[in-house]
Amino acid sequence: MRRPIIAGNWKMNKSAAEAVDFVRDIRRDLNAITLADSVVCPPFIALQSVSEVLQATRIGVGAQNMHFAEAGAYTGEISTSMLKPYCQYVILGHSERRAYFAETNEDVNKKVKVALQSGLTPIVCVGESLEQNKAGLTHSFVSEQVQAALAGLSADDVNGCIIAYEPIWAIGTGLSASVEEAGRIIGLTVRGALSTAFGEDTAQTVRVQYGGSANPENIGDYMRHPDIDGALVGGASLKRDFVEMVRIAAEVKGIPA
Ligand code: PGA
Repeated sequence: MRRPIIAGNWKMNKSAAEAVDFVRDIRRDLNAITLADSVVCPPFIALQSVSEVLQATRIGVGAQNMHFAEAGAYTGEISTSMLKPYCQYVILGHSERRAYFAETNEDVNKKVKVALQSGLTPIVCVGESLEQNKAGLTHSFVSEQVQAALAGLSADDVNGCIIAYEPIWAIGTGLSASVEEAGRIIGLTVRGALSTAFGEDTAQTVRVQYGGSANPENIGDYMRHPDIDGALVGGASLKRDFVEMVRIAAEVKGIPA
């Protein structure tokens, strides 16, 4: 059984002080939800303080990116061993990283391998552009992204990953994908690619999130789809809406830890 998981991707929002105030505010209510996993992903500068506030709670902490090297001359970058004391998760290959920072499938693949080796759970993001969607290329493009991101991994490794299907046209636009469309791409394309590369057991084990304008109003419908296990949430994760979304996910298909 796949336990629901809602992760908040704060992107470049909230100072360290604002981050601490926010998690102090939501900590008690979020921690009271036992039937779904929740993860907050603040900017690097707030990881340490947020992880301190969330110590001894069931709320996970994730980074939004990392470098694949362990250390060295990579100005502005951060490695897994630097993240490890404060995080259990790391978002990798977000479409904004791919679009604005030229991350390739190969970079994402290297990062996924290093994250797993270090014991961080990767949240691997895939998703097509509006042009690709309109041209009918979603299936082939997303399948390729999934297989490239996970190339060279064992089925066991892949079982330890989370995948977020985030159509780029739905991110931050208010234009969320329909449940039918998101469910079809997650079920047929993402799980299909996992099944081809790693076997059907893995395809049914890996938790797959939807992302793109998810909010308290639509999360229940996504969660009711049998192939959707949660959401990667941007805008709505910056507010108390996030707690409501985790509560709804737990209510729709909660599973004890
Ligand atoms: P959004 O962002 O919820 O603001 O659309 C989702 C994401 O980019 O992870």
